[in-house]
Amino acid sequence: MDGTFSDNDLSRVVAADKAHVWHHLSQHKPYETTDPRIIVEGKGMKVWDQHGKEHLDAVSGGVWTVNVGYGRESIANAVRDQLIKLNYFAGSAGSIPGALFSEKLISKMPGLTRVYYTNSGSEANEKAFKMVRQIAHKRYGGKKHKILYRERDYHGTTIGCLSAGGQDERNAQYGPFADGFVRVPHCLEYRAADQGAPVENYGEWAADQIEAVILREGPDTVGALCLEPVTAGGGVITPPAGYWQRVGEICKKYDILLHIDEVVCGVGRTGTWFGYQHYGVEPDFVTMAKGVASGYAAIACCVTSERVFDMFKSDATDPLDYFRDISTFGGCTAGPAAALENLRIIEDEGLLENTTKMGDYMLDQLRAMMDRHEIIGDVRGKGLFLGAELVSDRDSRTPAAEKMVGAVVADCMAQGVIIGATNRSVPGYNNTLCFSPALIATKDDIDNILAAVDGALTRVFG
Ligand SMILES: Cc1ncc(COP(=O)(O)O)c(C=O)c1O
Repeated sequence: MDGTFSDNDLSRVVAADKAHVWHHLSQHKPYETTDPRIIVEGKGMKVWDQHGKEHLDAVSGGVWTVNVGYGRESIANAVRDQLIKLNYFAGSAGSIPGALFSEKLISKMPGLTRVYYTNSGSEANEKAFKMVRQIAHKRYGGKKHKILYRERDYHGTTIGCLSAGGQDERNAQYGPFADGFVRVPHCLEYRAADQGAPVENYGEWAADQIEAVILREGPDTVGALCLEPVTAGGGVITPPAGYWQRVGEICKKYDILLHIDEVVCGVGRTGTWFGYQHYGVEPDFVTMAKGVASGYAAIACCVTSERVFDMFKSDATDPLDYFRDISTFGGCTAGPAAALENLRIIEDEGLLENTTKMGDYMLDQLRAMMDRHEIIGDVRGKGLFLGAELVSDRDSRTPAAEKMVGAVVADCMAQGVIIGATNRSVPGYNNTLCFSPALIATKDDIDNILAAVDGALTRVFG
């Protein structure tokens, strides 16, 4: 740490935090007797807490966000320069960074043309949901309005997004939810037996389950299908072979708009600009947030095809016949200014290539670790987005107890390495360790993360 804050200042910060801050996803009772962790500073892959303790961050800011690492002065400068020139104007007008970033972003997304700015992943998904609903009203008398979502996927924290939430522990106690959202089965091959799926061609079988839901609901009632390309908090689920191809065919067959939620995978996390680009599908909507500006400013986007955009154009005299939506902070210029510089860094530093190389290395090493640790039942992931599912028995695939999984995370934390685990997600299946180091990770960083995990597994499980 650079010593800008004295111990005295930091005690005041901790006291203020304990008195007034309501932390996300946290039970606060323990803070009556302990202090919450305050992260004070970051540089590259590392962060420092209020005690000056250094941590190697294997989860990019906790939630797959700081893709280019901490302490990027060029992003800070781009934001500063833009804020002095113009900090804000409502998104009904354009801005210089908004226009330039949209052009840059679209150059990475063949087939898509329009960027709708907003300020969180949840909100970006809400925009897509609203577009689908409005299209249903404009073209199909309101009938083709249902939105399909998948078990184990997560799309955000608002009531609308939780209505499309496939993680029951996230949803519990927040209902009733919105109508017109319909669940389809997950596609986690490791758990195929629980679904009664055949051993062969699991990917096609899992996609066919979506078709079965469409047929049950009536294809003329289904407007869109919303999926994560690789499921994140629901267990780092890489799609099985053949899945996406079939999904694309099904959407075309029933004229269903395909909405891909790239809030986690977007902007490099899996080694391509977007996760869906591994699988050759053609989405109508792509939503993104976390890695767009690596957390240097709040920005999220709902990107659409020209086909979708055109559905909202009209010469009609009806004053309601356009996308009547606004996001106040979607007009902040800091977001696109930071995002432009973030993309430049990813390109100039070859971070997609690094992500693929380091991701493959980490995946191989985690698989090798399975020889030493019977507790690891499955390892999966794409690029620097990896998970290790822990099971107490490999034959029955019984999930390891959540408390023990938490103990592994805590052991790593004590060693100065921050890893993640699925939590408050799928009941009984909060048993996957999650890794998402920044795209700048070196082989040494990966080795240090793996060494901490190896030690923690030995201490917790023997
Ligand atoms: C796949 C996915 N979609 C949407 C969201 C919601 O994004 P936000 O927290 O920015 O609203 C998240 C957040 O973790 C996510 O993982």
